[in-house]
Amino acid sequence: MKIKNICCIGAGYVGGPTMAVIAHKCPDIKVTIVDLNAQRIADWNDENTENLPVYEPGLDKIVLSARGRNLFFSTDVEKAIDEAEMIFISVNTPTKTYGLGKGMAADLKYIELCARQIAAVSKNNKIVVEKSTLPVRTAEAIKNILDNTGNGVEFQILSNPEFLAEGTAIDDLLNPDRVLIGGGTDTKGQEAIEALVEVYANWIPKERILTTNVWSSELSKLTANAFLAQRVSSINAMSELCEKTGADVSEVARAIGMDSRIGSKFLKASVGFGGSCFQKDILNLVYIAKSYGLNEVADYWEQVIIMNDHQKRRFAANIIKTLYNTVSGKKIAFLGWAFKKDTNDTRESAAIYVADDLLFEQANIAVYDPKVEEHTIFRDLDYLATRKPEENKEGVTVFEDPYEACRDAHAIAILTEWDEFKQYDWDRIYHNMKKPAFVFDGRNVLDVEEMRSKGFVFSSIGK
Ligand code: NAD
Ligand code: UGA
Repeated sequence: MKIKNICCIGAGYVGGPTMAVIAHKCPDIKVTIVDLNAQRIADWNDENTENLPVYEPGLDKIVLSARGRNLFFSTDVEKAIDEAEMIFISVNTPTKTYGLGKGMAADLKYIELCARQIAAVSKNNKIVVEKSTLPVRTAEAIKNILDNTGNGVEFQILSNPEFLAEGTAIDDLLNPDRVLIGGGTDTKGQEAIEALVEVYANWIPKERILTTNVWSSELSKLTANAFLAQRVSSINAMSELCEKTGADVSEVARAIGMDSRIGSKFLKASVGFGGSCFQKDILNLVYIAKSYGLNEVADYWEQVIIMNDHQKRRFAANIIKTLYNTVSGKKIAFLGWAFKKDTNDTRESAAIYVADDLLFEQANIAVYDPKVEEHTIFRDLDYLATRKPEENKEGVTVFEDPYEACRDAHAIAILTEWDEFKQYDWDRIYHNMKKPAFVFDGRNVLDVEEMRSKGFVFSSIGK
């Protein structure tokens, strides 16, 4: 079966870029991305690509190449479902905030809504593709909902998890290490897999398109994120030991990374990993393991999160301790709010938690981030609900100029590894700060010796 018409439900960080790349690479396939959020769709359709709802290097060009040709953004979910032969579900699957599994399990209400809507609208056979990250065996639940509508339509469910990382999404999509497709083992399942393989084969070598059964595919996605996050927690655990022993975590990372069995990637010590997925997916994994009574497995993976929480908390505690055990009324400048560079995404960013701890000690926080907007910063803090919105407004000021953010500050905390921080005139920043001028580099972006030679009291993670 040759696919001619694709619908994607969910125009977020995954749905937008992945479908834009499919449309860009497959001009013969009509791709319609739909979302309930009308503002998001309007932003995707905005003439001015600076207003696209997702910031990703290179995304604007890809969108411009296909939008209006074979790439469409719409709020008409039913029409897009009806017309499509293949429907991707790319909606959010956050951690549950209520009921059984609260704080751990994935909330599948948006997924179920999609399945019910597909079931209600479909008049002919369709392939439904799980693009969202889901607990293993979710395809079974989706299939149950779809198969019980009684309108005789046949559905094939595929799992096609996304491995892109934000900030490098377009490169990751154009040139992925692998694409994973899980499907049924019977003839119809294999035909559905083949249909999706053919879509990707438009630009990805077939040997990099991996096919498995559905459960392996679903579980591989959670496993990949757990392993990646585990590496960050592992190096962060060593960073604390480095600080006590005089070892340098960058040197340790380099030394172990040259062992080809370990590999050099994902060994950067930091203030802690953030992002919408690592924590959510590991908590979900822990919940699944517990639900099968696998307590040792659950405890093993939970430790990755415990270490990450510790890393964020000890960064804030170190600032307080170093500033003579009081930050009350002191201006602390934050350089960076996004959870990593080259994205405007702030979900679960370490900056939020460090800010929360410092606000608890009555610090005045001055934030500068090149891509994150003021309302997002306050939304993040208000969402914690640890203090009233007006108290957050009182404690935090957002600046558009980094030099103004740092003026008269007692300390600077670097929370995101934006490249531009290396280009700053640090002598000028030093000159305008309160003395002694402290810098806490949570991303190890600046050179320790150079910063110390300029007069800063400088500390980085794991050094
Ligand atoms: P997101 O919140 O940015 O986007 C999800 C979108 O789905 C939202 O715009 C929301 O309005 C829309 N939506 C929800 N329910 C809907 C419905 N019933 N009908 C129409 N639209 C609906 O989320 P995201 O970051 O794109 O993540 C989506 C999924 O992909 C998650 O499961 C996530 O774990 C996974 N994932 C994310 C990344 C990433 O880098 N962000 C990478 C790989 C996988
Ligand atoms: C991660 C995975 O890398 C993707 O493969 C996956 O698709 C995605 O999650 C997902 O499922 O959402 P992402 O969260 O966008 O991608 O970004 P990463 O580059 O993985 O970084 C995650 C966090 O770890 C960031 O806060 C980053 O700064 C931190 N990190 C990463 C470190 O502290 N040290 C490192 O060495 C690497």
